[in-house]
Amino acid sequence: MRKPVIAGNWKLFKTTTEAIALVTELAPLVGTVDNVEIVVAPVFTVLSSVQRAIAGTNISLAAQNVFWEEEGAFTGEVSPRMLLDVGCSHVIIGHSERRQYFGETDTTVNRKIRAALNGELVPIFCIGETLAEREAGKTFDVLERQVRGGLEGFTSDQLGPLIVAYEPVWAIGTGKTATDDQAQEAHAFVRGVLAKMFDQGTAERTRILYGGSVKPDNVKGLMSRPDIDGALVGGASLKADSFASIVRFGA
Ligand code: G3P
Repeated sequence: MRKPVIAGNWKLFKTTTEAIALVTELAPLVGTVDNVEIVVAPVFTVLSSVQRAIAGTNISLAAQNVFWEEEGAFTGEVSPRMLLDVGCSHVIIGHSERRQYFGETDTTVNRKIRAALNGELVPIFCIGETLAEREAGKTFDVLERQVRGGLEGFTSDQLGPLIVAYEPVWAIGTGKTATDDQAQEAHAFVRGVLAKMFDQGTAERTRILYGGSVKPDNVKGLMSRPDIDGALVGGASLKADSFASIVRFGA
C-alpha cells in the first residue's frame, strides 16, 4: 500500500509573514491526519521560518528547486546540503515552469535527482506533456522520454523514496483538470515505464502524484484511481482551508 502524498507548491507566492500565517492556520486543520504525507514547498527565502513554524507538526518541508553541486562558486544556486540545513526533507525537481522558463532539461533533472538522493532529500520528479504534444498524440512518447531521461543511470535501489509527479502542462493553473481517466491512464503508463526500466517492485512502490488544477471538489475522484497516489497542488495550496480539504480527501 503506498502512503498518499499531498504537496503544496506555493511557487512565487507567500512572504515570510504570509507563509507563517498560512502554516499556522493549516497545522490544526490537518493535525489529526496520519494516513497522508503532507508537504509544503515555499520559496527559498522563507524555508527556515516555515520550518520553525511547522516544527512538531505532521507537515514536511520541500524546496521548489535545487542545484546539482553540494557547494562551490555557483552564484545564486542552492544545494541539497543547504536545503537539508534549513530542514527540508523533499525537493521539487523538473517542474514544467522550470523547463519552460529556466532551461531545465532531462539531463539537468537527472543531475539534480542524483544530487537530491545523495543529499538525503526526497525528489518530487515532475513530468508532463504540453497541450500541443497531447493533441499530436505524443503524450506517452513525452512521458517515456522524460522518465527515462530523468532516471537514466540509476539502479532501482538508488531511487529510494523518489516520488514522481505527473503534471500535464495544459492543466496547470488553467482550471482544466485532467479527467480521472486521463490521469489514471498517464499514471499507469508511467508506472509501466518504471517497471520496464527497473522492476515491478520499484514500479509498485513508487508514488506517482497528479498535479494540475487539483481542488477540493475534484481530489476525491482522482484519488479513487489505483495509480494516483496523491497530488501536487498549486493555487489551492495557497489557502489553508482549501489545502486542508484536499489533504483530508479521504476523511
Ligand atoms: O506544481 C503544482 C502546480 O504546477 C499545479 O498548479 O495551480 O494548477 O494546482 P495548479
